[in-house]
Amino acid sequence: MFIENFKVDSPNVKYTNSEIHSVYNYETTELVHNNNEWIVKPKTVKYEFKTNTHVPKLGVMLVGWGGNNGSTLTGGVIANREGISWATKDKIQQANYFGSLTQASAIRVGSFQGEEIYAPFKSLLPMVNPDDVVFGGWDISNMNLADAMGRAKVFDIELQKQLRPYMESMLPLPGIYDPDFIAANQGERANNVIKGTKKEQIQHIIKDIKEFKEANKVDRVVVLWTANTERYSNVVVGLNDTMENLLASVDRNEAEISPSTLYALACVNENIPFINGSPQNTFVPGLIDLAIKKNSLIGGDDFKSGQTKMKSVLVDFLVGAGIKPTSIVSYNHLGNNDGMNLSAPQTFRSKEISKSNVVDDMVNSNGILFEPGEHPDHVVVIKYVPYVADSKRAMDEYTSEIFMGGRNTIVLHNTCEDSLLAAPIILDLVLLAELSTRIQFKNDAEAKFHSFHPVATILSYLTKAPLVPPGTPVVNALSKQRAMLENILRACVGLAPENNMILEYK
Ligand code: NAI
Repeated sequence: MFIENFKVDSPNVKYTNSEIHSVYNYETTELVHNNNEWIVKPKTVKYEFKTNTHVPKLGVMLVGWGGNNGSTLTGGVIANREGISWATKDKIQQANYFGSLTQASAIRVGSFQGEEIYAPFKSLLPMVNPDDVVFGGWDISNMNLADAMGRAKVFDIELQKQLRPYMESMLPLPGIYDPDFIAANQGERANNVIKGTKKEQIQHIIKDIKEFKEANKVDRVVVLWTANTERYSNVVVGLNDTMENLLASVDRNEAEISPSTLYALACVNENIPFINGSPQNTFVPGLIDLAIKKNSLIGGDDFKSGQTKMKSVLVDFLVGAGIKPTSIVSYNHLGNNDGMNLSAPQTFRSKEISKSNVVDDMVNSNGILFEPGEHPDHVVVIKYVPYVADSKRAMDEYTSEIFMGGRNTIVLHNTCEDSLLAAPIILDLVLLAELSTRIQFKNDAEAKFHSFHPVATILSYLTKAPLVPPGTPVVNALSKQRAMLENILRACVGLAPENNMILEYK
């Protein structure tokens, strides 16, 4: 059975006008290595969570607003807000938020008279309603959002016709363009750029955010990079390795600071959450250092939308089932502007890196199947085929060793509009980033409540190469990432993690 909403009744949970306060016993373990023996000690740590229940009016500024993802997300939200439906050859299609964890997935809240009861994920804590988000942003192409939607070739034409009047007047602000960081084939598009030194460009972005906030009367702004994939920046001692060196490099107008790092610097400086949806290393060490010192949320990298999402499910299943994946080969071809940009070796390399490490945690978890340091062969190929446009093809072959030296080969073929997968993920990223800034917590050894670490690992379900604070484990397995996010939100309303034991019926 499905219920729309619920309230928790517990001595550990208090709802006031402005917050939800919960006391939560975190059951964990401590490991000790003594005389060649591992000892595992269960322990309970008492935590308190405080969630501010005032949902702000949210503005979202996208870098690359006029791209396929930017225009698809903007049009999709307008279609939902306006209740738009359109005729396809199959049926009358209603706007929806399918593919969004927060808007279209469910959580189990318990059993009632022998039936499992589920509720919307978004009913866990008060979240911004996506219909109420105000969109804006930058693009190095000056095309208005209605034309950009046409250029993207993602939405059915009947939907595009209805959306055009809402989107024609939406104009991206000029963006920071540096041809050294994206493919040369993007040059033709760049007719809307901010001039000046790197320092002036940062000031320009800060001014844009302030003006957007003022003009739209929004309480909070989140900025998200969905612009072209850049090449990696070189990380060099003295250049971008510490906060001081990075800021000094900006003052010297050093060439090796990428546009994405400049947008991120502007945001961190103003305490605006900044999320990177592309694979490049926007978050050079100096920027992470600055974000930590300023306690300003950063999250990334690279949306986990299709092939990698499947990979982080399938390899988790194989390794979890005691089956040894020995070779993973992933081909993609796509024909959108992202594909054209990725046809240059330097930008492809960024994507290759972010797609490559995604099975490490699963492989390392099973020392029966894999020797230390042993990995499956893992190859990623991306080709640009204009004809297929945004309808990306992903073909994967997984070969595994099974019982008694047997082989098992699984082949997947995935066809899907890339931006229809990415847009709901962008929505989740900004909604969850905003929500996480309203949560404060402490354990009983801490005197004061504090926010989450500014490097937002809570968003890792949505990213291919989750950015984590130095010295923190990276989790790629999709089910673990989802459980982490759901369980933290459950803790905020005093609910135990979902343990799937269903002892009531055993
Ligand atoms: P797109 O090429 O259609 O859009 C990118 C937009 O960014 C373009 O309109 C371009 O003019 C603009 N742009 C480039 N550099 C800029 C800058 N410095 N400042 C402002 N605007 C700039 O690409 P699409 O398909 O929307 O993808 C966007 C990004 O998301 C790509 O990096 C892609 O790799 C990444 N991504 C997409 C996924 C998907 O499923 N669609 C999945 C994972 C990542």
